[in-house]
Amino acid sequence: MADEISHILSADLEDDADRVIEGTLRPRTLDEYIGQREVKANLSVLLTAARGRGEAADHVLLYGPPGLGKTTLATIIARELGVNVKYASGPAIERAGDLAAILTSLDERDVLFIDEIHRLNRAVEEILYPAMEDYALDVMIGKGPSARSLRLSLKPFTLVGATTRAGRISSPLRDRFGATYRLDFYAEEELAAIVERSAAILDVTIEPAATRAIARRGRGTPRIVNRLLKRVRDHAQVHGNGQVDEATATAAMRAMEIDDEGLDSTDRKLLAAIIQKFASGPVGVAALAAVLSEETETIEDVYEPFLLRLGFIDRTPSGRIATDLARAHLSGLGYEIPPPRRADPGMPSLWDEPPSTDA
Ligand code: ADE
Repeated sequence: MADEISHILSADLEDDADRVIEGTLRPRTLDEYIGQREVKANLSVLLTAARGRGEAADHVLLYGPPGLGKTTLATIIARELGVNVKYASGPAIERAGDLAAILTSLDERDVLFIDEIHRLNRAVEEILYPAMEDYALDVMIGKGPSARSLRLSLKPFTLVGATTRAGRISSPLRDRFGATYRLDFYAEEELAAIVERSAAILDVTIEPAATRAIARRGRGTPRIVNRLLKRVRDHAQVHGNGQVDEATATAAMRAMEIDDEGLDSTDRKLLAAIIQKFASGPVGVAALAAVLSEETETIEDVYEPFLLRLGFIDRTPSGRIATDLARAHLSGLGYEIPPPRRADPGMPSLWDEPPSTDA
């Protein structure tokens, strides 16, 4: 059983090489953490108060696009509270018994981090309700008419749940979190500060213009700027003298097919599909996913949020549309841009109601 729990607990972290490498660059305290000012301020109050009372902190739900620091914050929460953290993920916890084993393994005031918490199955989720509310574990003994429920106490703990979208979480689960924080894309200056910090940790000499070039193409995401920095460092080592100037940085990113807005080849494929195959939309996400051979959820959670933020796509009730900005961007890169099917905004369309002639 112990082996099984440790498999569930470690699955997400150790199997993912990126996260292990990223580990060295992760900030370890709230002070070291750059960006998300409001979240940090609120979290700091929550943690200081819990520490002052000597109690487990309230359960915290973190949501937002991938790569913005949800796992990092969970680790920081535990560190700031001076307790251990265990990492698990929604899809890896398959049975109610798996979660029961994890919960009973926690020490007083420990942090349990559950990534992708919206993907917990119903039976597992129901174990979580009394655990969160009363630090209690309800176990069923026996079957049929003689079955009865036995309540066991758990040590007080803090659940940190993470999800790419809060709307995916059932309301009974959502209601049991004492604090919910939304992580937003980082500003370019914040990403530049993260690149500077990471370069210092990796012992890379980097010019400010190169830092800005990476930050600009980082899609508002620390995980991406850190990854870009490492590839740029490789490029400088192999093709130059190891020092990163702007020309090396832009050459490396061009070699990775990252364009000036930070879009990668999948982003461009997605936009090109909407523009060329669906006459700029509207198109449903399922059709797009089929054309790109991607999961619908990956498109919605990984690609769309930043394209929406750039103003390259719009979500409408009838589907996704590529905006004029997206069309101009791809046109500048040499893509063929057929005319959009929809009428120009502002122009009356065939399907609009005719103007009223009533007096
Ligand atoms: N590395 C990754 N995310 C970071 C953040 N938010 N602050 C500082 N360094 C980071």
